Amino acid sequence: MSKNIHWHRPLVTRDRREQLNGHRSFILWFTGLSGAGKSTLAHRVEETLYERGHHTFVFDGDNVRHGLCADLGFSAVDRRENIRRIGEMSKLFINAGVIVLTAFISPFRQDRQMVRSMVDTDDFIEVFCDTPLEICEERDVKGLYKKARRGEIQEFTGISSPYERPMNPEITVNSGYEDLETCARKIIAYLEERRKI
Ligand code: ADX
Repeated sequence: MSKNIHWHRPLVTRDRREQLNGHRSFILWFTGLSGAGKSTLAHRVEETLYERGHHTFVFDGDNVRHGLCADLGFSAVDRRENIRRIGEMSKLFINAGVIVLTAFISPFRQDRQMVRSMVDTDDFIEVFCDTPLEICEERDVKGLYKKARRGEIQEFTGISSPYERPMNPEITVNSGYEDLETCARKIIAYLEERRKI
């Protein structure tokens, strides 16, 4: 970072934006294997928040890798950079008063911790989509597990690259066994109990 840059304080602050919006902003960080149901769940939760008049945005791994992160692959270094960019982007969005929902495998604890430490403690809510590998592989919606097993994709999470389970996620959903509505309700209940929404 250059020494010759200065931080400009906005007049319209996050607090004022939150007041205008009538709700707090924060990050719901969905993590889990490919096919665990992160995106589907993030969009389902977003739908409920939207219906309640809340300002939201979903960042999704596959989509972001078409644009902002199109230059990144799946090495540990590239994944870290992917998560760093999304972390910074999420930080901008919470300052804009928006509830951010992110759906990235984000397989490394250290990388998730990096994002957690970028924002205030209350602003980062880790949601572990705890779908077992066998179920993700069985679903294989995109056919990628088959390709990974055949060795056609390298460093595939769960097959040839590790997934480090969260140790203390704020929320764990059994997205392999419980249906979408049950998982979504659990997250909404968590947010209501903590008066986030
Ligand atoms: S992350 O590890 O950097 O967080 P991200 O969530 O952005 O991953 O992207 C994961 C998506 O990319 C998967 O859902 C899958 O569709 C696709 N993908 C392609 N190659 C790989 C790979 N080697 N490992 C995991 N996912 C991959």
